[in-house]
Amino acid sequence: MTVRLTQASAPLMHSIDVRDEFGATRRIAIPAERALTVFVDKRELVTLMTLGAAPELLVLGYLRNQRLVERADDIDSITVDWDVQAAAVTTRAGIERFDEKTAKRVVTTGCGQGTVFGDLMDDLDRIALPPAYGPPVQSVAPPPAGDVVATGEYLARIGHCMDCHTPRTTDGRLLMEQLGAGGMQFPGPWGVSVARNLTPHDSGLKGWSDAEIARAIRTGVGRDGSTLKPPMGFAYYRNIGDADMAALVAYLRSLKPQPFAGRN
Ligand code: HEC
Repeated sequence: MTVRLTQASAPLMHSIDVRDEFGATRRIAIPAERALTVFVDKRELVTLMTLGAAPELLVLGYLRNQRLVERADDIDSITVDWDVQAAAVTTRAGIERFDEKTAKRVVTTGCGQGTVFGDLMDDLDRIALPPAYGPPVQSVAPPPAGDVVATGEYLARIGHCMDCHTPRTTDGRLLMEQLGAGGMQFPGPWGVSVARNLTPHDSGLKGWSDAEIARAIRTGVGRDGSTLKPPMGFAYYRNIGDADMAALVAYLRSLKPQPFAGRN
């Protein structure tokens, strides 16, 4: 199920006129701070202060963080209207024990995101930690100078590429023999995205040029020009330099070709 969201993204900066130390009037840009009052099924919950870049996702994340909703699927729509500085949330089936959950609140700062509702810490102990992979890492050796593939592997580790692009065992470990084969599903407000096959296989990056791979990683534009979805962190990879990108691509091309998700 998909949450219906308005796209009320607002500019992060706005211009004001100031008088500088020489008495001259200058126009400068400052970050915007907008108030957004959240209504859940028509009932007022809290006022969040935000820059306004992604107000719908802010509200969704807030409700989830506060354990007021279990899953994004519990929400039908979030409608943000800056004219009235409000976000109207419609749930699919109401929020269980809403009064009880919101009766107790701790206000840690004046800003709405500092408001913490009663139940927040209740299920903290039940959050399972990922399996341990071995003893703590003491140090990581740099890749051997001049070894392009090893450098690419090193960068792929820092970039967590294979954590998303490799199938896992039922207890959450990476299936190293299917490294890079893709298939992991990521549900979210964007629908469901599926990690692609990064190995040099027909269902992976085999026919891609280096430039096409670099464009996908840096800008989230697919080979056919389509827009790739989150949670791949295109914005974080945008500034990967040319030498590092060449190493990453060389590493991806060195992977063992695998059918998509390791399935034949
Ligand atoms: C948080 C998970 C995640 C991480 C980390 C991640 N990716 Fe992705 N990647 C995805 C998903 C999901 C898609 C598919 C998006 C879609 O379907 O629109 C994708 C798509 C791609 C594509 C496009 C392939 C195609 O067939 O269109 C490339 C190339 C890629 N990733 C490479 C990388 C590299 C290299 C790294 C590390 C620098 C990386 N990814 C890190 C989740 C991730």
